[in-house]
Amino acid sequence: MSKIKVMTVFGTRPEAVKMAPLALELSRRPEFDAKCCVTAQHREMLDSVLNIFHVKPDYDLNIMQPRQTLSDITCKSLLGMEQVLEQAKPDLILVHGDTSTTFAGALAAFYHKIPVGHVEAGLRTYDKLSPYPEEMNRKLVGAIADLHFCPTARNRENLARENITSGVFVTGNTVIDALQTTVVKDFTFSEPILNQFDYAHQKVILITCHRRENYGRPMANIMTALRRIADAFPDTQLVYPVHLSPVVQESAKTYLGGHQRIHLIAPLSVDEMHNLMARCYLVMTDSGGLQEEAPALGKPVLVLRRETERPEAVEAGTVRLAGVEEENIFRLAAQLLSDREEYQRMARAVNPYGDGQACRRIAGAIAWHFGQRPQPPEAFGG
Ligand code: UD1
Ligand code: UDP
Repeated sequence: MSKIKVMTVFGTRPEAVKMAPLALELSRRPEFDAKCCVTAQHREMLDSVLNIFHVKPDYDLNIMQPRQTLSDITCKSLLGMEQVLEQAKPDLILVHGDTSTTFAGALAAFYHKIPVGHVEAGLRTYDKLSPYPEEMNRKLVGAIADLHFCPTARNRENLARENITSGVFVTGNTVIDALQTTVVKDFTFSEPILNQFDYAHQKVILITCHRRENYGRPMANIMTALRRIADAFPDTQLVYPVHLSPVVQESAKTYLGGHQRIHLIAPLSVDEMHNLMARCYLVMTDSGGLQEEAPALGKPVLVLRRETERPEAVEAGTVRLAGVEEENIFRLAAQLLSDREEYQRMARAVNPYGDGQACRRIAGAIAWHFGQRPQPPEAFGG
């Protein structure tokens, strides 16, 4: 039987964290001739993930530029992909999630009549401006894709509401596969301050904040609340690995700079990030990935957004939507820092997003789709 030519396409840090284990799984299995193409919508933050997982792309479009616009990313990726697809002629391309790379990758494949598999399919807020532009990207990719790999049963229901019912598989999220390989008991951080904290007695709050829809007033509100938390609770240490976006860098310096217990540090490599998450007291974030990882590690999360496309952990009680208003963020954090019982209620490990087997299921579903195995894999959680 001839091998199935599958090409993974990704470009940003979160896509890389979630696609690296899948790229590795595909290259290990005999049914596949696996290729990897990166747009490098992110450069340093992407390369860091590729290094940790030892993934070597076959194609690198190297498109990133400072303060790139959405059109810059989309046009450069679309044009770059054209040459790659003409040369490699894959049987299937796999894109992930909801970034501009995801959209451009799927569109480029469609223009070449190459089937598309969408990993992390079916997440929705039903507000096209939040998250922006991600909600529209994932809807458009949902319309293009032939295979849809949903992390949860709820994601499958979302697709069914859009009449997408064939080629849909519930697999779990590949981020949980990634997490199982990175967290270890005795971990030494390369950032010295992270080795100096007394994690058992100090309340280390891990922060990330980068989303485009939070630029401006919401980000100012969030950061003002964070500074108030540091001032009001002397037993806290706030650690914020700041995203390399110049907009985010400027806001972080303006609102959070110069405070003794607020540590603005460079982005962490993914193994450092996961191990810090495993040791911290609380996570405050607008990131999608952290909302999935922290519950698996038993850490409460306050989401610094108005909505979330990941309601499963909110319903399980370990994630709370804090919004983007200063007072509410401060109030919810203060409660978790002073009310032990409330904290314990949220600090429970739950795994609504996966069991570490998502990559195996996705690879199995592709093999089945191309007639190379008799049955599809069992669904996650079912
Ligand atoms: C992108 C995704 C977003 C995802 C986020 C993860 C889109 C539209 N947005 O947003 O969905 O949540 O990545 O982090 O696809 N930069 C660097 N080096 C890097 C990475 C970024 O210097 O390694 C700087 C560049 O100046 C770049 C800017 O950050 O222009 C913004 O990067 P971009 O990918 O456009 O947007 P993100 O906000 O990162
Ligand atoms: N991450 C990381 N280093 C950091 C911040 C985040 O490795 O300094 C990881 C995080 O653990 C998760 C992914 O990057 O796996 C999330 O990326 P990001 O928050 O940039 O994007 P989002 O998930 O919001 O799309």
